[in-house]
Amino acid sequence: MTERAPVSRKLSAIAESATLKVDAKAKALQAAGRPVISYAAGEPDFATPSFIVDAAAEALHDPANYRYTPAAGLPVLREAIAAKTLHDSGLDVSPAQVVVTNGGKQAVYQAFQAVVNPGDEVLLPAPYWTTYPEAIALADGIPVEVFAGADQEYKVTVAQLEAARTDKTTVLVFVSPSNPTGAVYTPEETRAIGEWALEHGIWVITDEIYQNLVYEGVRAVSIVEAVPELAGQTILVNGVAKTYAMTGWRVGWMVGPADAIKLAANLQSHLSSNVNNIAQRAALAALTGPQTEAEQMRQAFDRRRTLIVGELSKIPGVTVPNPLGAFYVYPDVTGLLGREWAGVTPTTSLELADLILEKAEVAVVPGEAFGPSGYLRLSYALGDDQILEGVQRLQALFA
Ligand SMILES: Cc1ncc(COP(=O)(O)O)c(C=O)c1O
Repeated sequence: MTERAPVSRKLSAIAESATLKVDAKAKALQAAGRPVISYAAGEPDFATPSFIVDAAAEALHDPANYRYTPAAGLPVLREAIAAKTLHDSGLDVSPAQVVVTNGGKQAVYQAFQAVVNPGDEVLLPAPYWTTYPEAIALADGIPVEVFAGADQEYKVTVAQLEAARTDKTTVLVFVSPSNPTGAVYTPEETRAIGEWALEHGIWVITDEIYQNLVYEGVRAVSIVEAVPELAGQTILVNGVAKTYAMTGWRVGWMVGPADAIKLAANLQSHLSSNVNNIAQRAALAALTGPQTEAEQMRQAFDRRRTLIVGELSKIPGVTVPNPLGAFYVYPDVTGLLGREWAGVTPTTSLELADLILEKAEVAVVPGEAFGPSGYLRLSYALGDDQILEGVQRLQALFA
């Protein structure tokens, strides 16, 4: 008998999402009765605002939602997304330039599929969200990391991008506020990077899923608002997950030039068709309803941000740049490596994260999930008491 043909080589090269893995491990320990405090999840701990849930409940009783609807999304939702894009990103688009996706994650995947050709180099500022390199590879592109450390507040410069550019470079990934670092580019930095991309005919895939979660009065100016001429070569990715505490509802979207968006819509028509209609109706309510609860959640995140940054900064050997967006803090922990803690000497942030989980029962995601070793990502999307207790455990471990 001939041996079975192999499974996909392309998919065999894809790693499981590291953040989901750490979170799953933390939840399993919690289920086993261990008092684990987890900073691993990238999701708000709040309930979805009730007016959004009510809109979904109402949609459940409308038979129009029991059927297939246009693969690219409900026309009324695409209109609302176009209006939000104009309001928050300064870009005037028609609903035909919008595709509603199963979460921002599908938008990220489809954006690379729509603009990457085999062998294209995609500039990826690091630390980066763990999904991008895999989504680039699945589009047969080559991720080219451009690293910016804590000393530059995790923000790449035009000089760094230019040094990494070759004649194969066709795409830049731009994320502000960033997951995992919480960094927000200033309007001037954003404009400089946008002008550089325009000059070299480079596509920009800009992930704006955290654009409404910003603090200290800063605004995350969209790269297409900073450089309007970029509109013909930029795909914006966004969604309701983070701003409205709707991670489980799975509604995101992509916006861009008509030709690229048409390709993504065609792909989606074969891949997944329309997003669940009930969830689309809920997203419509989120975008068009009162923004008061979203603002209250933002204020809670801001308070927790101040708390965690202040407490983490008290640990000798830990450098904590002040994150101005999203709900993550990304300390540089190289000062803790190569030293003995509770009988263990970690040499990488991966080993450090294991030590922290083992000895302090605190779950954090190691920098290796997002680029180089030497960092930890802590999400502060959890209650104030838990935030404090978890960091106090770290303070005791590294005293
Ligand atoms: C930067 C970034 N983009 C996109 C997403 C995708 O969000 P979702 O698929 O839940 O809408 C996430 C979620 O963690 C993210 O952090």
